Amino acid sequence: MIDNNKIKVLIDQEELLSKVKDLGREITRDYKNNAPVLIAILKGSFIFVADICREIRLPVTFDFMATSSYGDSKVSSGVVRITKDLDFSIENKDVIIIEDIVDSGRTLNYLIKNLEARNPKSIEVCALLDKDVPRKMKNKIKYKGFDIPDKFVIGYGLDVAEKYRNLPFIGYIESKQ
Ligand code: IMP
Ligand code: MG
Repeated sequence: MIDNNKIKVLIDQEELLSKVKDLGREITRDYKNNAPVLIAILKGSFIFVADICREIRLPVTFDFMATSSYGDSKVSSGVVRITKDLDFSIENKDVIIIEDIVDSGRTLNYLIKNLEARNPKSIEVCALLDKDVPRKMKNKIKYKGFDIPDKFVIGYGLDVAEKYRNLPFIGYIESKQ
């Protein structure tokens, strides 16, 4: 079993909040006089979107999408499935996808293709974490929080088997020696 002592901090609360502020400022500047739609990808990005939206000084609107990939909880199988679709049309809208983490990049790639087919005015990606894994697809993250090593991380919305989403920092579980 995993206990609290085995959870190591990778990015602490202070670093997270300061980065979120910076990203919010950047988005505010880039979308001046516009009203982008923030599309948060559930569940992992629920805390990130709640924090960053309060740093964006624009009349944003929100929508939510949920995806899942088949397979076990730590390895994405590559088959992405939409389990909750948007409530509103994004036609002619400036869309910002808010993601918690990009690992293989398959989820993001699938989402971008899927949303592009709905004819938005523009699509950009804001992702808190970018995992250092070899990928064929080029990086589409315009607003990036942190590059992180190839570890399975938890906290600040991210889970392992639905647990640890409420940790106020990004951590990882240290494997036993
Ligand atoms: P990808 O399709 O491989 O890029 O995986 C993306 C999704 O898998 C993310 O949106 C997360 O929900 C989940 N995920 C990937 N890596 C981690 C991790 O280290 N911790 C928790 N969830 C993760
Ligand atoms: Mg996710």
